[in-house]
Amino acid sequence: MTHSPRRLLQLLPLALAIALACGPAAAERRSLSQDWLFGAGELAGAEQPGFDDSGWRRVVVPHDFGIMDRPDGTPPFDAKAVGGQDAGYLPGGIGWYRRHMKLDAADAARVLRLQFEAVYMDADIWLNGTHVARHRYGYTAFGVDLTGKVKAGDNVIAVRVNHVDPSSRWYAGSGLIRPVTLEVLDPVHIAPDSVFVSTRSATADRGEVEARATVSNRAARPVRVEVTSQVVGADGATVATARQAMTVAARGSADIAQGLAVAQPKLWSPDAPNLYTLVQEVRVDGVVKDVRRTRFGIRTLTVDAQNGLRVNGRRYDLRGGNIHHDNYMLGAAGAPDADARKVALMKAAGYNAIRSAHNPASQATLDAADELGMLVIDEAFDMWRKEKRAADYARFFDANWQQDIDSLVVSGRNHPSVVMWSVGNEIPEQGSKEGAAIARQLKERIRRLDTTRPVTQGVNMDGPDNAVQFAELDVAGYNYRVHLFEKEHGTHPQRVMYTSESTSKDAFRYWDPVGRMPWVIGDFVWTAVDYIGETGIGWMGYTKDWKQLGPYPWNLAYSGEIDTTGRKRPAAYYRQVLWGTGIDPVAAFVEQPAGTADLPDRELFAEHPELDWSLHDLHPSWTWTGQEGRPLKVVVYSEFPEVELFLDGRSLGRRSVGRATEYKADYSVTYAPGRLLAVGYRDGKAAGQWELRTAGAPAAVQVQVDRATVRANGEDLAYVTVELVDANGTPVYARADDRRFTVTVRGAGTLAGAGNGNPMDASSLQSGVRTTFHGRLVAVVRAGLQAGPIDVTLATDGLPVGRVRVDAVSSSTR
Ligand code: GAL
Repeated sequence: MTHSPRRLLQLLPLALAIALACGPAAAERRSLSQDWLFGAGELAGAEQPGFDDSGWRRVVVPHDFGIMDRPDGTPPFDAKAVGGQDAGYLPGGIGWYRRHMKLDAADAARVLRLQFEAVYMDADIWLNGTHVARHRYGYTAFGVDLTGKVKAGDNVIAVRVNHVDPSSRWYAGSGLIRPVTLEVLDPVHIAPDSVFVSTRSATADRGEVEARATVSNRAARPVRVEVTSQVVGADGATVATARQAMTVAARGSADIAQGLAVAQPKLWSPDAPNLYTLVQEVRVDGVVKDVRRTRFGIRTLTVDAQNGLRVNGRRYDLRGGNIHHDNYMLGAAGAPDADARKVALMKAAGYNAIRSAHNPASQATLDAADELGMLVIDEAFDMWRKEKRAADYARFFDANWQQDIDSLVVSGRNHPSVVMWSVGNEIPEQGSKEGAAIARQLKERIRRLDTTRPVTQGVNMDGPDNAVQFAELDVAGYNYRVHLFEKEHGTHPQRVMYTSESTSKDAFRYWDPVGRMPWVIGDFVWTAVDYIGETGIGWMGYTKDWKQLGPYPWNLAYSGEIDTTGRKRPAAYYRQVLWGTGIDPVAAFVEQPAGTADLPDRELFAEHPELDWSLHDLHPSWTWTGQEGRPLKVVVYSEFPEVELFLDGRSLGRRSVGRATEYKADYSVTYAPGRLLAVGYRDGKAAGQWELRTAGAPAAVQVQVDRATVRANGEDLAYVTVELVDANGTPVYARADDRRFTVTVRGAGTLAGAGNGNPMDASSLQSGVRTTFHGRLVAVVRAGLQAGPIDVTLATDGLPVGRVRVDAVSSSTR
């Protein structure tokens, strides 16, 4: 049967009515990562659909406009930036995003929810010129209901971001910093954020899971629905099913709670991060209206002062690190691959726990933690009512804390990795009556949505004041207070304690009580991964008059045990040894000789060693030109009970290493170029070694990429690492040998950023022109939307060009 165009038009309303009545087969979640337009500054009328945005820049979301080069190509760092040292001398400000969204008539008639995972901060949202939402906190997810407000054809979403400086004690970034998605739903659907899947009990034989959700009916008449919940294993097999039928009132909703029993469940734990997917289907008259997939893990969780934190009955001491949310060369843009990489770097360095300082973690962070087996403390706030910075979230706390706590919990509660909720960090109200009352309110609010996880807070006070705060919490987080653990256990024997923040250089002192004191469940160093902002805290690089810490061009904290490019610094190796991870069971580093500052101002540090937020000035290098014949201090970290150091085969002595020596041995070695070798012995036999070789001049460029293929989805990232090596392939580390590179990306991808980890290098992160730091540089390549090869070249004067190829493959084939 054929119809004339005219007849087709006549049929259209009927088709629409049928589409509305039946709905398409299933709900959809569409990524809105592409095709955003960005305009800087206050732009009058930019919310209007007809506004001329043709000159705006096309950007991929997640996006941070604070890190972008200025229109004239100069880098964004500015000695006079209002956020100053806190913000890494980067600006906040106002920015606009617009996205044209074409909808066909059928989609325009459906239930639509625009989902922002985080917009930093104080965002206003318009649809086709009509104001539809405002959301203040920069780290929490929120949905905007667009149902019935869109039209068939072009719709314009406009977002105004109002990041007033100073808003934060670290670099927060600005804009659509986390993913944006559009949910396209039938009038009968599972309410977004309503799903909660939890483990009631779990043994090797049986896991009892409870799946809760709310079915929403936006239609004008009641519907009879059938909800089927299935637990699907990683192999795709369904291992448990539950069905429930019920009536949902017109324009109403109904809650369901289904019990599902899984025989011989593959339990989730840090060692075996097994995951399942809960597939919830809603049917009306046998027709599927919604399918919602929620990944989860089957695991139990308990915490007490006798047994510590137990997952499935087994104690896990928290080998933790704090992280901030920025991704260095991408700024605060929470690109999922970048967030996941940070988690993977930590896991590979032996950490098993993350404290998301001091804001809710992104979904990508939690997904990676679920997959890799990391335990997460998901934190709500850095301040409550009393501000820490003039324009921070304290302005909004009273009006918004409930919705922000709700968002934290619903976003995190299906992730097995999340083991605690933290209501705050070093909150000015802590220890007062008001502080206790707010903590109680926050905790009660959390309990409405999740009773399965303990609530904690990072507190930096001694007793007895801290007792006022800890009385409201399930678990006590101590910032920099290791000296209290013994004493306060005496007065509060049931208190579960951990170090929510510690200094890297005191790693031994902070880790030592864990395990020896059963009530101390772990230690989170400040920080595991370096970050933008709080410049110079890991170096104490002051101006000569001591007035300013980390003055411009400083832009990184330099406190991370893993640097911003992903390179482990000596502190990370020490921690691996303290934790007995076996990853690098013996490792040796050399102290920077006095008077040869690796970074300027280091000499000043000697006057205030107690302030340092990083380990001493140690380097993985035996290239110290100019130091010939002088003694250098070499530190060997070892899990083995004995170590021996050799220079060019000549023994410099054997040492016993253990708790008494804090798992390290110091040597003084007269410098001569050559090969420094540390050997670890167990039972008198060589069991591991570590080598440092003197490097010659840079002779080649070594290039590595972290993956061979990316999906051509406009979002996937590949990290390309460039290292200078000498003619023998020895890494070149000396600052004097650093080289300026030009990174070029051609083909099916683009350069998303490049950085070197040098805390004082305030040059562009986007231009691709960047100097190595200690012989190394990392470039980030983003897949485009077309499949094909991506060619990356890394060129520097006088050396053969470094090259690497990544293949962008169509999303379905990877
Ligand atoms: C702590 C604070 C962290 C960070 C750290 C290093 O007191 O909680 O957010 O500022 O100091 O400066």
